[in-house]
Amino acid sequence: MAVRETVLSIEHVTKEFSGVAVLSDVSVDIRRGEIMGLIGENGAGKSTLIKIISGIYQSSAGVLKLDGKPVSISDYIAAKSLGIAIVPQEFNLINTLAVFENIFLGNEIRLGSGLLDKQKMRELSAKQLEDLKMPVGVNQLVSSLSVAEKQMVEISKALMLRARILIMDEPTTTLTTRETETLFSLMGELRSQGVTIIFVSHKLNEIKAICDRVTVLRDGVLISIDEISDVNEEDIARKMVGRKDFTKIFPPKIPRPQGTEVLEVKNLSVKELFEDISFSLRGGEILGFAGLVGSGRTELAESVMGLRHVQGGTIAVNGKTVHIKKPADALRYKLAYLSEDRQGKGIVQGFNLPQNITLISLKEYLKGILIDGKAEELKTAEYVKSFRIAAASHKMHLRYLSGGNQQKVYLSRWLDTDPQILILDEPTRGIDVNAKHEIYEFIHQLAERGISCIVISSELEEVIGLCSRVYVMREGKITGCLEADHINEEDIMFHATGIKGLN
Ligand SMILES: Nc1ncnc2c1ncn2[C@@H]1O[C@H](COP(=O)(O)OP(=O)(O)OP(=O)(O)O)[C@@H](O)[C@H]1O
Ligand SMILES: [Mg+2]
Repeated sequence: MAVRETVLSIEHVTKEFSGVAVLSDVSVDIRRGEIMGLIGENGAGKSTLIKIISGIYQSSAGVLKLDGKPVSISDYIAAKSLGIAIVPQEFNLINTLAVFENIFLGNEIRLGSGLLDKQKMRELSAKQLEDLKMPVGVNQLVSSLSVAEKQMVEISKALMLRARILIMDEPTTTLTTRETETLFSLMGELRSQGVTIIFVSHKLNEIKAICDRVTVLRDGVLISIDEISDVNEEDIARKMVGRKDFTKIFPPKIPRPQGTEVLEVKNLSVKELFEDISFSLRGGEILGFAGLVGSGRTELAESVMGLRHVQGGTIAVNGKTVHIKKPADALRYKLAYLSEDRQGKGIVQGFNLPQNITLISLKEYLKGILIDGKAEELKTAEYVKSFRIAAASHKMHLRYLSGGNQQKVYLSRWLDTDPQILILDEPTRGIDVNAKHEIYEFIHQLAERGISCIVISSELEEVIGLCSRVYVMREGKITGCLEADHINEEDIMFHATGIKGLN
């Protein structure tokens, strides 16, 4: 392919927060009509760099040039008027507004009279969501959407700007393989129309599949820019972590333990969400739940945790039927649930690390009526070390941590509740490929200590690599249960879709 002209030059960009450099002298040329992958460990500076390009942050030093001319991108509106749109890593949607109102927020279409042309906005929104194959009603409130649906609304919002430079910060973390494929074919179409895309993902196979070139950042420093055909997944991973020995990502599998059931769910039903679900879990077992977005896995977990009103069925913990009507009941039975919605139901942006980690386990840290700050601090240091949480200080509010590091803090909170049964809904969402390994190891150690884990994941390789048994759901029903050597992509996809021969 002929080398295309440069559309955006990033020249010697540096960014400091309170004197700490998060980006140091980064220079990258982005070409017209290419998909440029941007990859690096959690906290490497990816989001910071693209926030500078989209006017959310200002660089401390350096220049941005569009078509060879220096530009100052003072805010989001300036970026928009220069034809730059961003799908941010953390959603920026207004829960109390409808889907179509969010898609056109700040970009409303008006009638000649000046009134909003709601009809037109509804039509265009519906068309956009249809192109993304996301069956969301345009009049639905954003608050009622799942995270995958919110992601598609956020993508639609950016696409609606018809930008010439489209920046996507981890748009696929909440999507399954099929939805990702739909998004990729759309990105391919945009590229052929000359749109430039900067694409951030922790999934090396995605970078390899869709990008023309890939840029690697490490600790805020530019490591490499390569044509995608010149590097394989392992090369990219090595450049990211800066080491030669790249550890095997999954520890050896633990076979399904013998012994008794710690959790037995029988005939559980929630109106319009799922029906007649039965499954069981043994002490120290790592059980998987696979399925497409919308298959009912998250809703099932929420129901077991007392977050939804169930119409029928029973739940038994350690052989005894229990009545879980609210999350506090679930906690009493030592159940814990890491929600897939870290931003909406997880971390508290305005709390620091210890406050977030001990949010639920706080009573363990009380000395009389006072919080034992020292104990809290020690515990925080333990988690920071185990998961290599990158934060300039424990006092930092979570909103200033990178997405992947927020996820690690959120996971620490649930581990700190000392659960007997831990339900992890997309536990490694936004986690870099190197840090994933640590989380998998940790899940293993928990299982070895007899703690049972349920892993809900849209990443097939995650359930395949970790679990000794996998239930597959489709449209609110369990359609299959695979065990040991029978767990493979093809069979999971068959049960998830009802179609043979997919993978
Ligand atoms: N407003 C801020 N104030 C202080 N530090 C910040 C701020 N924004 C980002 N940082 C720090 O900058 C570093 C880089 O963060 P950034 O969000 O760019 O990482 P990232 O590469 O996108 O990581 P991830 O893969 O986890 O999303 C992090 O250590 C983060 O804590
Ligand atoms: Mg980021």
